[in-house]
Amino acid sequence: MKTKNRRVFLKVAAVGFVSFFALIWNKLTLQHIANSGTEVASVPLNKNKEVQFFDKYIIVNSDNKTKVFSSHCSHLGCKIDKMESGKLVCPCHGSEYDLQGQVIKGPAYKNLTLLDSSVSDDGKSLTIKG
Ligand code: FES
Repeated sequence: MKTKNRRVFLKVAAVGFVSFFALIWNKLTLQHIANSGTEVASVPLNKNKEVQFFDKYIIVNSDNKTKVFSSHCSHLGCKIDKMESGKLVCPCHGSEYDLQGQVIKGPAYKNLTLLDSSVSDDGKSLTIKG
């Protein structure tokens, strides 16, 4: 009886173990595809707003330049969706970034990911690539 219970336990543990690594592998693979340079979005360009928050990215207009950053905090990936006192602030653990995407305050230690983007010929839209 004990041997049978042990076998069932080991089977369940093995399935859980494999499922966990399959999930992690899938997440890493999809993130790689998302960062492979494929087009993510095309949005109207609004240079009147210093910062615009979207689901996956943050558009910053400063010093006559438009930059696009991933909205995922470099600490544990929470979505950054607010600005306080001129800084981008992560709501989860309080990391702060300047408008160049550089870490001002941890726990994050990596800067925000700068995404590839290009302004349309007429200057009215922005194409963002992952
Ligand atoms: S996820 Fe942003 S500070 Fe932790």
